Amino acid sequence: MLSVGVNGYGTIGKRVADAVRAQPDMVVQGVGKTSPGHVADNALAAGYSLYAPSDDEKASFEGAGTDVAGTVEDLVAESDVIVDATPGGVGEQNRTLYEQLETPAVFQGAEAPAVAETSFNARANYDEARDASYVRVVSCNTTGLSRLLAPLKETYGIETVRATLIRRGGDPDQPSRGPINDILPDPITVPSHHGPDVQTIFPSLSIDTMGVTVPATLMHLHGVNVTLESTADVDAVRDLLAKESRIFVVPESARIEGCGALREFARDSGRPRGDIWENCVWGESISVEGDEFYCFQAIHQEADVVPENVDALRAMFDLKDAAESIATTDERLGLSLRQRSRDSERVLTGRACDD
Ligand SMILES: NC(=O)c1ccc[n+]([C@@H]2O[C@H](COP(=O)([O-])OP(=O)(O)OC[C@H]3O[C@@H](n4cnc5c(N)ncnc54)[C@H](OP(=O)(O)O)[C@@H]3O)[C@@H](O)[C@H]2O)c1
Repeated sequence: MLSVGVNGYGTIGKRVADAVRAQPDMVVQGVGKTSPGHVADNALAAGYSLYAPSDDEKASFEGAGTDVAGTVEDLVAESDVIVDATPGGVGEQNRTLYEQLETPAVFQGAEAPAVAETSFNARANYDEARDASYVRVVSCNTTGLSRLLAPLKETYGIETVRATLIRRGGDPDQPSRGPINDILPDPITVPSHHGPDVQTIFPSLSIDTMGVTVPATLMHLHGVNVTLESTADVDAVRDLLAKESRIFVVPESARIEGCGALREFARDSGRPRGDIWENCVWGESISVEGDEFYCFQAIHQEADVVPENVDALRAMFDLKDAAESIATTDERLGLSLRQRSRDSERVLTGRACDD
């Protein structure tokens, strides 16, 4: 069993810890966090040992009556590998400690690509992380684009990609994030930095992106246009995407018209925290005009990178090949929205009748 320390137990870290614990070939050694409070209490209640970055922070936990197993340095020494899910820039600082203790690590998307030997998306470049000591799982937006582009590239070839990313202002637990009642070109400069990040996965891809930030916490929404290298049939493209385990082609019959309804659907489907690990591509939005592909997809920013972290760990330790790892992760997490969508149509219909 691979012993995994999760350093940083916020939006991403708490989900990665639960996902790791659900796997048959890895265990959670413990989780790192700076401050006591309800998140720390829930980590302990969930059975995770807590580690603090410094002795001062350890004392602050103890002062609050919260059990601490040790320092992050202890966690790094006790673990086979660390998933670093600290805020952007902290991971880069932590790398020195990981190197000193010869503990490999997975970093997250806000770190610069140079923090790791390779950037990672399981569907697109799993093998590049095989036997690597430092891997960076790309951001939620880049993960969503990579999953969509990989099958299109393999089947039709891609001449160029243009995507507008309408990004949530913050996560639900981030009251300091905005905007409030505003819509920001973000960044104002065009193209945005997202295209170059996708190129860390597909180095020679022609891609331009524009970013917008809106006052929402639910999901990101992407409007994507891909010029393919060959003409395509719309039904064939829809079938291609529907076969991808981490793409949920939202059926028209589900009557899911926006991101709020998607999250409600996930909650009704029994997903932990209402998480949606898949890209949600609206079936009705999939359009093909000759060699031009268009779609809208929603990306649950808190969740889509979670299975990717699990697969990155398996790639680094050469535990399984890409297909086996993705299948194991998906099965253990319960990625079955497509299955559930048929059930939920009945649930939704039933509710309508009840009303
Ligand atoms: N949130 C998203 O939508 C999202 C999506 C994809 C990727 N990511 C990436 O995931 C990474 C983490 O983001 P997040 O949203 O999960 O952040 P977050 O919610 O702010 O959580 C950060 C966690 O790191 C802990 N922490 C802070 N400094 C630390 C240190 N020096 N040592 C150990 N733990 C420390 C924090 O503990 P305290 O709370 O106790 O201070 C908190 O538990 C970033 O690279 C981000 O870009 C985020």
